[in-house]
Amino acid sequence: MPTVLITGANRGLGLEFARQYAAAGWQVLATCRDPQSATELNAVAGEIQVLPLDVSDFLAIETVSRILHAEKIDLLLNNAGLPGSRAAAFGETDYEDWSEVFRVNTQAPLKMAECFVEQVANSDKKLIVSLTSRLGSIGENTEGEQYIYRSTKAALNAINKSMSVDLAGRGITTVVIHPGWARTDMGGPNAAVDPADSVTGMRSIIDKLTPADAGNIFSYNGSSIDW
Ligand SMILES: NC(=O)c1ccc[n+]([C@@H]2O[C@H](COP(=O)([O-])OP(=O)(O)OC[C@H]3O[C@@H](n4cnc5c(N)ncnc54)[C@H](OP(=O)(O)O)[C@@H]3O)[C@@H](O)[C@H]2O)c1
Repeated sequence: MPTVLITGANRGLGLEFARQYAAAGWQVLATCRDPQSATELNAVAGEIQVLPLDVSDFLAIETVSRILHAEKIDLLLNNAGLPGSRAAAFGETDYEDWSEVFRVNTQAPLKMAECFVEQVANSDKKLIVSLTSRLGSIGENTEGEQYIYRSTKAALNAINKSMSVDLAGRGITTVVIHPGWARTDMGGPNAAVDPADSVTGMRSIIDKLTPADAGNIFSYNGSSIDW
């Protein structure tokens, strides 16, 4: 039975990943900030364990890694993310907010990889997947604004590339995936993509990953994205 470790699994795409992987017979290590209030996650049927983890707390990441030291983690799924302040026009940047979003969207995925690399290396599939966004693409940015969110995801893409080089020798494949504009709290009610379809698409891409894909960026529906 393969194992997936998911961050931010209590709602949105993280919850849908937990549901779909549990239904597919995977062991799911579902982490979230407040397991007690994670009603929908606690109701997911299958081989699932819910653990507390605020990914901005790096000591907590180290602690959870120690608790899970004996696990073989086939797929480390860096899903947790923050949108940053919506008032993001030039001249309105909230620099305190930027620091918090950078810690969650950019630094935490690297810290997770550093802390769980042994468990991933000991697994069969050896995958590290982080959720990026088309908004992090420099080549496709024609609309401006969104300084905070865009920069944290662009930096995540750069980190993914370095990890792909550094971890290739251990047989670990690291990629970033854009989930589409999905109807979650972050995407909002007018978003185009149903979360179940987004996660089904991403799982299908993850299923087909090989070491030749390391460092690459994917979209949930197979469309290409410029760096
Ligand atoms: N939805 C979209 O259209 C879209 C598009 C592109 C990329 N993405 C990316 O996809 C990922 C999932 O997004 P979503 O749409 O599911 O967002 P969401 O509905 O807003 O859910 C965000 C999740 O991240 C968790 N989180 C935030 N800060 C955290 C922290 N410090 N520690 C642990 N968990 C934390 C939240 O937990 P709490 O409930 O505790 O806050 C929640 O579970 C994100 O990385 C996002 O940037 C989404």
